[in-house]
Amino acid sequence: MENTAGIRTAGVLTSGGDCPGLNAVIRAITKNLMTHGVEVFGIMEGFRGLIENRYVLLDDKQTSGLLTVGGTNLRTSRDKPHKMPAPDGGTRDMSGAAIETYRRLKLDCLICLGGGGTQKNAYRLMKEGGLNVITAPKTIDNDVSGTDTCFGFDTGMTIATEAIDRLHTTASSHHRVMMVETMGHNSGWLALGAGVAGGADVVLIPEIPYYIDRVAESLLSRMRHGKMFSIVVVAEGARSVEDEPDLDGDSDDGRKRKRKDKDHVDSKQPVSVSLAAHLEAVTGLETRITSLGHLQRGGVPTARDRLLCTQFGVKAAEMALQGAFGNMVGKRGEDFVPVPLEEVVKQKRLVPPDHPWLIAAREVGTCMGDEVPLAYRA
Ligand code: F6P
Repeated sequence: MENTAGIRTAGVLTSGGDCPGLNAVIRAITKNLMTHGVEVFGIMEGFRGLIENRYVLLDDKQTSGLLTVGGTNLRTSRDKPHKMPAPDGGTRDMSGAAIETYRRLKLDCLICLGGGGTQKNAYRLMKEGGLNVITAPKTIDNDVSGTDTCFGFDTGMTIATEAIDRLHTTASSHHRVMMVETMGHNSGWLALGAGVAGGADVVLIPEIPYYIDRVAESLLSRMRHGKMFSIVVVAEGARSVEDEPDLDGDSDDGRKRKRKDKDHVDSKQPVSVSLAAHLEAVTGLETRITSLGHLQRGGVPTARDRLLCTQFGVKAAEMALQGAFGNMVGKRGEDFVPVPLEEVVKQKRLVPPDHPWLIAAREVGTCMGDEVPLAYRA
């Protein structure tokens, strides 16, 4: 790959929630750009570091051994340049300071690794300050549009699947209902992927509002069919049909949370707590919950994620060398392609009703909360 854009310096930052694989992408970008004589600055703590002029020069020493290390050595934050916390408790627009650092460092391009919020922040800086941004889709939620998959997702899904495997044995020993709550924000990729891979009996995802009585009937019916335990996987954003009209957040009920247009739900109360209590009351079946939380974002990336991250990083570097700014690296089939940020920021990528994983789940009798599977109808 030729440095046709003639870039000499590039910045890289990680923003939003962390996930395994971020370091692997930083490593791939740096190694690749360095071989083309490009100086790479690691901006600390996401956009906050850009605003506060905090960075390190990345070299061979810093990137060696990074492939397998979880988290992000550049650290991260959920800060948005246009909405930084102000001393009076409100927010203030600090985009100007971020743009200034970019100019002071004489960056020819800024590579931002992050989820949906990061894509939007990078896009804003490009529009407002003319920054040459390139992004790559990171998130265990797998909900960034314009790409078949995001890095970090495979690791999160693998961790959740392993947890479900372990819960199967104890569920069986005690004849209990075991409820596992996954992350995923407002998308069901994690719950669905891990639920199908772990052989869950019920999977509840935000894209399919559930009927509590249908879930209860599935569980009771399994018992009647001699299946003495059940595994229920619930995504943190799952909601019942009754909750559906309250999406605007008008209700006082704590479970009915405002979800529209938020990049990040700051909910500390697992949805499984009230759902398990409700189900236990309706079915009389002893129910236990496990909320996987940040375990899904910890530790080493899977082999698949390491491969993906290396490819995402190499493609991001290649796009920088070619001057393909204003784009996110998207994975389409086996290819890695530039996808205009303008398109990426328009919507989230949710589980479509005809997704093969969903169809397969239904075909093996998994209750998705909207109907009692055929095998368990009385
Ligand atoms: O976006 C990734 C994610 O892990 C979501 O699945 C989850 O809702 C959120 O971040 C948790 O954020 P925090 O780490 O700020 O608690």
